[in-house]
Amino acid sequence: MTTNNYVQFFRETSPYIHAHRGKTFVIALSGDAVCHENFHSIIHDIALMQSLGAHIVLVHGARPQIDQRLEAAGLQTTFSQQVRVTDAETMNCVKEAVGGTRFQIESALSMGLPNSPMHGARVRVIGGNFITAKPLGVRDGVDFQRAGEIRRIDTAAIQDQLESGALVLMSSIGFSPTGEAFNLAYQDVATQAAIALNAEKLVLVTGASGILDGENNLLRSLSLPEVADLKAKLKKTDGDNSSAYWLMASAYQACRNGVDRVHLVGCDDDGTLLRELFTREGCGTLIMKDHSEVIRPANIDDVGGILDLITPLEQQGILVKRSRELLETEISRFMVVVHPEGTLLGCAALYPIGNSDAGELACVATHPEFHNQGIASRLLKCLEKDATDSGLKTLFVLTTQTAHWFREQGFTEAELSELPAEKQSLYNYQRQSRIFSKSL
Ligand SMILES: CC(C)(COP(=O)(O)OP(=O)(O)OC[C@H]1O[C@@H](n2cnc3c(N)ncnc32)[C@H](O)[C@@H]1OP(=O)(O)O)[C@@H](O)C(=O)NCCC(=O)NCCS
Repeated sequence: MTTNNYVQFFRETSPYIHAHRGKTFVIALSGDAVCHENFHSIIHDIALMQSLGAHIVLVHGARPQIDQRLEAAGLQTTFSQQVRVTDAETMNCVKEAVGGTRFQIESALSMGLPNSPMHGARVRVIGGNFITAKPLGVRDGVDFQRAGEIRRIDTAAIQDQLESGALVLMSSIGFSPTGEAFNLAYQDVATQAAIALNAEKLVLVTGASGILDGENNLLRSLSLPEVADLKAKLKKTDGDNSSAYWLMASAYQACRNGVDRVHLVGCDDDGTLLRELFTREGCGTLIMKDHSEVIRPANIDDVGGILDLITPLEQQGILVKRSRELLETEISRFMVVVHPEGTLLGCAALYPIGNSDAGELACVATHPEFHNQGIASRLLKCLEKDATDSGLKTLFVLTTQTAHWFREQGFTEAELSELPAEKQSLYNYQRQSRIFSKSL
């Protein structure tokens, strides 16, 4: 990376650094991620996030480590609904494996040799009896014995540690008021901790690289209804035992219970955590809390709703006039935000500008009764993602009265000469619109 690129990159990360400071992130590291060759890089990246002011709760799994210990002890176990049936002998192996994994993480977080990325980091790691557990008991005729579930999480104690600047490390073992230890599912610990702490994000770091579609392409973002559909599909095809199903289940549960964003990132590539959390394009799958509206491409049935929305704005001179016929022809350029009951809450259009790698954003409007709820901002994010996916590098917008809103969305004022030639020749001098652009 050249010095200029480096400076540019560093500046581009600053909005994320500011946004993440003081926010609580629950990061779930699977046992596979702990065995992975990128494990130390992941730990360095977590330490970096911590030193940038994020409050980190790190939850680790230990399934392959437990498997190894069981094999060495000549023990066999069974799973039901992804939970290991845990008898007393198995529990001893679980304690050893979880303890060993925990020490491995603590020692990685304690590194500080000069010339290492952890030099000067001084991460204070705190653990404890934060989880009260209870036995799962007998379910569908299976006695889970020492496998348990979470009864309560001591959020006040965790918050105290986070406020004091410590990183909280949680393992997948909880204790009952009778003093027994129970084997818990680490995703469940992470999900429940994220919910109880009202975390900004739950980040699930797994062996797989995000969630893929049928053609092995990464699904970059999923709405909550899409997660529910996928979860149902995975359960039908792979049953309870697919790890993708459990990831979806955790994400769904977290978002339904107040966590704004869940990120699924793999660890096969170096730096995925930083790319996902500190760049606009990310590199994993993002699942967002349901805002109870749906953002989707418009279809011909939306023309009436769009006209109702934009006609008053055209009459005030805020938007350029579009006839019904033009709207029908160009409907595929539009995205709409629709309330679950069907009301059209917002719209926006994206027009590629011929012979260039730029696009024009137009007709951005939110229903007046739904202003200031972030609808247009979310719609803009979707259009930007579409624009990026279709290879566009720059977005332009021409506006007469909404300059400040676009500025706050990261657009900067541009000269007429910066518009692609095709668009320059159509500029309406009478309207005197101001031109804004944003690099994607
Ligand atoms: C601009 C518009 C699309 C924003 O829709 P929205 O869904 O309310 O937007 P968001 O909720 O994402 O953002 C709201 C924020 O933008 C601010 N905002 C809204 N219109 C603004 C404007 N013209 N100038 C500056 N800020 C503006 C709001 O005050 C609010 O800020 P706050 O949260 O600090 O109070 C909406 O006001 C609208 O439909 N305006 C008329 C059409 C228009 O001007 N379109 C753009 C021409 S292409």
